[in-house]
Amino acid sequence: MNLNERVAVVTGAAQGIGRACALVLAEAGADVAVADLNMEKMEAVAKEIEAAGRRAMVLSVDVSSAESVKAGFGKVLETWKKIDILVNNAGIVRDNLILRMKDEDWDTVLRVNLDGAYHCIKEVLSGMVRQRYGRIINISSVVARAGNAGQANYIASKAGLIGLTKAVASEVARKNVTVNAVAPGFIATSMTEKLPEEVRQKLLAVIPAGRMGTDMDIAYGVRFLASEEAGYITGQVLDINGGMYMA
Ligand code: NAI
Repeated sequence: MNLNERVAVVTGAAQGIGRACALVLAEAGADVAVADLNMEKMEAVAKEIEAAGRRAMVLSVDVSSAESVKAGFGKVLETWKKIDILVNNAGIVRDNLILRMKDEDWDTVLRVNLDGAYHCIKEVLSGMVRQRYGRIINISSVVARAGNAGQANYIASKAGLIGLTKAVASEVARKNVTVNAVAPGFIATSMTEKLPEEVRQKLLAVIPAGRMGTDMDIAYGVRFLASEEAGYITGQVLDINGGMYMA
């Protein structure tokens, strides 16, 4: 599964799952552009990509803004002439019960998690169709499959991503462009480290594998879906969750 000569863009790649995806894709041979709000952390990730022997590019991008995505992705297209792999990973949470949810928290989560993927797909898709090659991987979540109290905005966005995945996959399958989702379970990153200990223990109790996932568990799944060999897999959701939810 080598990705030599491939160009990848990973959003939300300054840390966590996005960083792991960027590094694993680079180790497999791809040149990688990282797109995030956090320049300082992205510079560090870029150094790691270069240490793996690949080219790296740092893009200051707010995925919720179409203009920002256009400007950032435009730099990749101008410099590297193409984008073969897009990992829509940038995501945020603003958890609350629906009766207490602020409209602003609903909007912000939908704008980043769902509109963000939409904007990025719009920037890469015509090029992928033209070159008859593309791999789009949208990072959803186990909660989009199973539901969860207190995350209506987040779950709506992550379930929306699965719908978006299937719709776009149907439109471009004939052009050798695949679109898939990955639904991570309970992964040890900064997003989950703030959870109270009792919540962590409750979650661990329902994971058959008996442990939290790692960012690498997700990145290896992404690498597979990004590969040439996964070319007949499209419109699917790959659950990576230690058995926490079995579809
Ligand atoms: P994280 O919070 O460690 O990293 C998210 C990254 O996205 C950060 O670098 C942040 O700066 C960036 N980001 C946020 N808003 C952005 C914007 N508007 N434009 C560009 N970049 C932006 O989160 P983590 O845990 O690495 O999550 C990555 C993805 O995986 C997210 O989509 C998350 O919803 C999803 N996920 C995570 C799970 C977990 O247990 N950690 C479980 C299921 C899904």
